[in-house]
Amino acid sequence: MSSPMELYEQLTAQGLAVREIKAQKGEKAEVEAAVQRLLRMKEDYKHLTGRDYQAGRPPARTDDDADPAEDEEEDEDDQVDPWNVSTSSAKGVDYAKLIVRFGSCKIEQELVDRIARVTGKTPHHFLRRGIFFSHRDMHQILDAYESQKSFYLYTGRGPSSGAMHVGHMIPFLFTKWLQDVFDVPLVVQMTDDEKYLWKDLSLEDCHRYTLENARDIIACGFHPDKTFIFSDLDYMGASPAFYRNVVKVQKHVTFNQVKGIFGFTDSDCIGKISFPAIQAAPSFSNSFPQIFGDRNDVQCLIPCAIDQDPYFRMTRDVAPRIGYLKPALLHSTFFPALQGAQTKMSASDANSSIFLTDTAKQIKNKVNKHAFSGGKDTVEEHRKFGGNPDVDVSFMYLTFFLEDDEQLEKIRQDYRSGALLTGELKKCLIETLQPMIAAHQERRRLVTDETVRQFMTPRKLHFSR
Ligand code: TYM
Repeated sequence: MSSPMELYEQLTAQGLAVREIKAQKGEKAEVEAAVQRLLRMKEDYKHLTGRDYQAGRPPARTDDDADPAEDEEEDEDDQVDPWNVSTSSAKGVDYAKLIVRFGSCKIEQELVDRIARVTGKTPHHFLRRGIFFSHRDMHQILDAYESQKSFYLYTGRGPSSGAMHVGHMIPFLFTKWLQDVFDVPLVVQMTDDEKYLWKDLSLEDCHRYTLENARDIIACGFHPDKTFIFSDLDYMGASPAFYRNVVKVQKHVTFNQVKGIFGFTDSDCIGKISFPAIQAAPSFSNSFPQIFGDRNDVQCLIPCAIDQDPYFRMTRDVAPRIGYLKPALLHSTFFPALQGAQTKMSASDANSSIFLTDTAKQIKNKVNKHAFSGGKDTVEEHRKFGGNPDVDVSFMYLTFFLEDDEQLEKIRQDYRSGALLTGELKKCLIETLQPMIAAHQERRRLVTDETVRQFMTPRKLHFSR
């Protein structure tokens, strides 16, 4: 059965289809059939969500006692798609509501425990702390794994500049952990074509950024024998198998559907409209014959932040229609901007970000100057009333990067009670980030052109199953 979000997207596409048939002065019977289909879908939508379909208003929640005023507020507030993340709440996006809207599943403690059981390893702190909070079909991956079947990991990066920020590291650090504990191959798509289509950059720049960003990705510690990193600009032309899958997806997704999912308009260039098929193709194992031969039955698991989910809702919708398995997903929350959790950290705003190229001094200055504080205005008030870690960006960053659970909990309590001042909390964050980023820079320095070439050469990978 479709989720509310899937049905909403199908309905939006069907509404556009009706309008188009009418505009083209289609046959009466054709118009009638399209309208009837639209009406049936509206009924299904109301049945599923308890609310009438409204164009431009995605579903919020399905429970009967939903407060419409609250829904309205949320619809206006939380925007999450591959290009925009924003909310008016200082605590950040309401992820519980997003799960309902997107129709994914919460990562329950039971799933975290199962991952620990299956791998025999302590779950990564991103899992323990709910930073990876949502999934699609992760139980299926574990079922397959337990019955000795393999799977592969797929993640990616849109190289829009030479420097990545620490937020970009979240999916990659987690993917590295998954690769280690499951011992599985990984493909990393560098969408230099996407960035060329969306940004005011030359093809040469985008390709150059691919090679620069690949160094940062390699510096996360991925296994050279188990990892293939590829530039779309290079691999699309070099791999007939990959391009065949792109074309298959293109044939089975309509313009109306991508308009519904991604909000494309008639004035978007045609490259953008067909691009989602290129991000979909790595989800199918036979796109990589050098790794999987002609097998199309190796299941794919995609770790990413939840902004990328629209691409994979489309992929999961199309997969069974072209005879492939749906990819599974693990979604992370967003690493917030320095100015507050109303937006994600984004490379397009230098002051909102801590880059992997920043010096120790820049890190210190940015945190001290820009990190939004949940502390009180004066020391006296702070000591008396305590701070609010739920909106404090320095504390949020520590939840991502301070690995010691007990130390983190003590910081939370001390900040809340007022025993720990904002300056002291920021100092703790600076002292966590500076060595972490310096160590990354040192590992990156050791990545040679030859290492990059090795990771980016289509080749056989080594994995146990
Ligand atoms: P890009 O380059 O925007 O982002 C790369 C990865 O980082 C995640 N991300 C974040 N995670 C946490 N906090 C943040 N502030 C933050 N900002 C970005 C993104 O979700 C992504 O996982 N089109 C994609 C490239 C791509 C891809 C994929 C990503 C191609 N195939 C498969 C994930 C999975 C892009 O432009 O990502």
